[in-house]
Amino acid sequence: MASAAKQLIAGDLVAFPTETVYGLGADASNSAAVARIYSVKGRPNDHPLIVHIASMDRMGDWASDVPEYAIALAREFWPGPMTLVLKRSELAGDFVTGGQDTVGVRVPNHVVALALLEAFEKEGGKGVAAPSANRFGHVSPTTAAAVVEELAGYLSKEDLVLDGGACAVGVESTIIDCTGFLPRVLRPGAISIAMIEEVTGLSTLSVDGQDEMRVSGSLENHYAPAAKVLLYETPMPGQGLIAYNGVKTPSGVIRLASPRDDEEFAQILYAALRQADAQGLSEVVVMQPIGAGIAVAIRDRLTRASNGR
Ligand code: TXA
Ligand code: MG
Repeated sequence: MASAAKQLIAGDLVAFPTETVYGLGADASNSAAVARIYSVKGRPNDHPLIVHIASMDRMGDWASDVPEYAIALAREFWPGPMTLVLKRSELAGDFVTGGQDTVGVRVPNHVVALALLEAFEKEGGKGVAAPSANRFGHVSPTTAAAVVEELAGYLSKEDLVLDGGACAVGVESTIIDCTGFLPRVLRPGAISIAMIEEVTGLSTLSVDGQDEMRVSGSLENHYAPAAKVLLYETPMPGQGLIAYNGVKTPSGVIRLASPRDDEEFAQILYAALRQADAQGLSEVVVMQPIGAGIAVAIRDRLTRASNGR
């Protein structure tokens, strides 16, 4: 950890596990290091990055005017699968925030991530900018092997990939905009609206992913494997299938995953989509979970992955 932290300070990239998905980390106060994240991911550089810190004590380094409800959320859910969007401090440069006057901050809940962040802070670091460790638009990696598969061709010899096993949550953090009077969910995740409302006592707004896509005019193809993702079709021979374990596999259909509950569905979804590509399938049918909680996040990602299909 100490040597990985030193490499971050030196400007190298370190991919690391979190409880949600693997992140591709760089020193968030080093513009050259952060620029490498964008080039390795092939990501447009007006897309803001999340700054990862070891504890909420560091929030004040990156954010200013933090509202009381955001502090209540941080106390309750950090370390955990939640990102708070706050008014930025001077430390949060345009190269991290995509030029916005806000910054996304998160304390991840994973022993390897926390050990890395603590070692980094011991070396004088302030925070680690880390997007999901995939090429732009692709499925987020939930294992170290998936990170290597995605990024090996783009990383340099000095960069590191830390292996912390498979991610427990499996979908990206809930992003909550805390710059208004009420919390607003920008991306659903394991921390649900009901959980946010219970802790803050405030009614919580949310941005509907489908509305957002409709407004922007074009369906954003994100979180997507090479295989076409189909959400509303009966699986046919030769197609992949991801569905609850109670659903039988029709003959000739390639079963990719059989989760027993919504949590397991989230945990194995991205690995199953990668499996579809590894097996060279051109189409995969996913029978989405219904209901609230993390099922909302699963449907959000699948809607984007399916490009409206
Ligand atoms: O679970 C996660 O959040 C993972 C792990 C590695 O922490 N990270 C992640 O990062 O998913 P990324 O970059 O793949 O997705 C972050 C999302 C982006 O869609 C970005 O636009 C949004 O967070 N975001 C970051 N900062 C923001 C800000 N200041 N305002 C609005 N959205 C922001
Ligand atoms: Mg991402």
